[in-house]
Amino acid sequence: MRALISIAVLGLLAAPAMAAELPEWAYPVAPPAGGPPDNTVKKTLPGSTRSYTAAQINDRFGPPDWYPEDHPPMPDIVAHGKKPNAFACDLCHLTNGQGHPESAGISGLPVGYIMRQMAEFKAGVRKGMRAPIMVQIASALTEEETKAAAEYFASIKYPQFYKVIETDMAPKSYVGAGAMRFAAKEGGTEPIGNRIIEIPADEERTEARDPRAQHIAYVPTGSIKKGEELVTTGGGGKTTPCAICHGPELKGLGEVPPIVGRSPEYIYRQLNDIKIGTRNGAWAPLMKPVVAKLTDEDMVAIAAYLVSKAP
Ligand code: HEC
Ligand code: HEC
Repeated sequence: MRALISIAVLGLLAAPAMAAELPEWAYPVAPPAGGPPDNTVKKTLPGSTRSYTAAQINDRFGPPDWYPEDHPPMPDIVAHGKKPNAFACDLCHLTNGQGHPESAGISGLPVGYIMRQMAEFKAGVRKGMRAPIMVQIASALTEEETKAAAEYFASIKYPQFYKVIETDMAPKSYVGAGAMRFAAKEGGTEPIGNRIIEIPADEERTEARDPRAQHIAYVPTGSIKKGEELVTTGGGGKTTPCAICHGPELKGLGEVPPIVGRSPEYIYRQLNDIKIGTRNGAWAPLMKPVVAKLTDEDMVAIAAYLVSKAP
């Protein structure tokens, strides 16, 4: 009985510490799902001949392919997944691998890097707060299916997805369906603080899983310059200049992934996950010293600078 009580007390004490480590802006949690999506009204998008209902847009085993002319033929696992546990990759990462901030951009990543991440999700060493869905999916795939998906996404160039705005005041926002952040319906702004607020440039298009839709990243005033200093010089020993491993333009080198132009929410989350030890893996130790001394503000600044560069 006493043991039970002390565990409960520990649980209470641990909660605020965890919350401080996992800022809500970078670790969004979806609200409880509403009713089933509409299956009668067909939605269309500019420049696409196709139309889909909300139910079809959210079909885990066959989400929309609005612009088939934009990408190479999709392997079956990317377009349809495999029932019951492996949802189609393009449901969350979109047909062009651009992804959304609550998942990840995966186009243009090296094949070897993607293979390693899938193995590490499966092995349970990459276990960040947003990783469980990937653990489920990676665990359900064969080596051949994983390779087909990795080769497909690696072959596509990561698109210019972000418009970056430095500001003291960000639009008021909330986390909606799919754990994505949207601008508040009532409008208005609020102090950005030490956060990055990513919202769709056009909500309806993004909700329709439009791979041509863009996102806006609001970053704190001065963060881009501060991030540049850390990324390029190491900030006087605070970290290691990233180009040594990520390549001269930070567009990747061998199996080390590109880090420019990608979701700042995702980039921050990975830096933090590696720092607090929820993201591990064979090559993760190379990143440990890089993040060890970084503060929360440093990681926000780095993510802001990286997204401001062309992918
Ligand atoms: C239901 C949504 C969902 C689906 C479907 C999905 N993913 Fe993911 N994926 C995620 C999320 C969320 C993350 C980010 C995890 C994190 O932040 O720790 C992610 C991350 C990844 C990463 C890591 C990216 C990096 O830069 O390290 C890879 C690789 C990946 N997914 C590949 C795939 C492949 C291949 C498929 C299809 C077989 C797939 N995903 C299907 C949600 C999804
Ligand atoms: C000593 C080599 C090295 C240096 C220096 C380095 N990195 Fe990395 N980084 C890596 C490797 C290797 C990986 C891939 C880890 C893996 O495969 O699990 C990585 C992964 C990452 C990721 C995760 C990417 C993703 O797609 O999930 C981010 C973000 C990142 N690095 C940012 C940085 C930043 C920012 C800097 C500079 C401040 C930096 N790195 C410096 C080697 C390095």
